[in-house]
Amino acid sequence: MNPYELIDKLRERHLLSEEEFITLIACHEQKKIRDYACSAAREVQKKYYGNKVYIRGLIEFTNYCKNDCFYCGIRAGNASALRYRLTKEEILQCCEQGYGLGFRTFVLQGGEDPYYSDEKIVDIVQTIRAKYPDCAITLSIGEKSYESYLAYYRAGADRYLLRHETADYAHYQKLHPPALQWKVREKCLYDLKKIGYQVGSGFMVGSPYQSARSLAADMKFLHLLAPHMVGIGPFISHRDTPFAGYENGTFQLTVFMIALVRLMLPNALIPSTTALGTIFSDGREQAIVCGANVIMPNLSPVDVRAKYALYDNKLHSGKEAAEHKALLEESMKAIGYEIVVDRGDCKKI
Ligand code: 5AD
Repeated sequence: MNPYELIDKLRERHLLSEEEFITLIACHEQKKIRDYACSAAREVQKKYYGNKVYIRGLIEFTNYCKNDCFYCGIRAGNASALRYRLTKEEILQCCEQGYGLGFRTFVLQGGEDPYYSDEKIVDIVQTIRAKYPDCAITLSIGEKSYESYLAYYRAGADRYLLRHETADYAHYQKLHPPALQWKVREKCLYDLKKIGYQVGSGFMVGSPYQSARSLAADMKFLHLLAPHMVGIGPFISHRDTPFAGYENGTFQLTVFMIALVRLMLPNALIPSTTALGTIFSDGREQAIVCGANVIMPNLSPVDVRAKYALYDNKLHSGKEAAEHKALLEESMKAIGYEIVVDRGDCKKI
């Protein structure tokens, strides 16, 4: 089959074989093929979500992390990182500001920081849940036990983001130290689904040692997991990590992967990520017209934003800033999309 037929097949059957994915991914440098995938993805996106773009207020509440992922700027081993933690009161202030701005989802994201015990997380979630019954609460705080996930869910968390990063086991171990194991990551994701969370997974594009075969494994894994949300962004190197100086992932391949995920998981919520906006000036807009339908502006206190530096030059001002939502609305309008005040749950197929 030629690449166009493979795109049509993915759209109709929502799956390709590993070899077919590899063939298709290998064609991503051809603009015509990317355009074909993007317009197919856009049709599918319009069918399920019209021209709506959902927004999430991202509260990066701690950049302490016990892990040492080779790619990440807030890894434990980075002694140059300026560390911070937000208090419960500061987190609640972020929610208050966000609610006023029209956010109906709060994403609490942080490094794996043992300071925030399960009791503390449960208390924060319960408080937000009681104050904002009409909002979705998303957690993104890494690998935890089944019991911990269950406790957060019972406290009122609805959604959980945990990227699988790469579903190629050997590749996973090249991106992470031995303390982090693919099998644990996989179990966490299935535990979250079992408990009833809306689950977000995802991967980096162009991370060191990634091959077309690794990306094909990502697609297969996503097909099996069937998450509600899929976060896809380019790898961007950070100067204080073992991957300093490695090449960044490309904009073209990232957008192509977003389009393929839209075709495979038609009703998924797919963010147009900050990392895309960082490597390409209108990257966020281009991802939206290729099938992404979520944007997560930064709702953290302004003085800590620069410290949540997962990679070099991470954007946190202008359209990335929750308080400048009007700028984002304008840029979405210019491409024919509309930001809505809505929890933005996953539509049923
Ligand atoms: N480049 C791009 N994305 C990164 N992340 C962490 N470090 C980097 C980097 N250097 C992503 C990971 C993680 C998410 C919160 O940020 O995929 O899951």
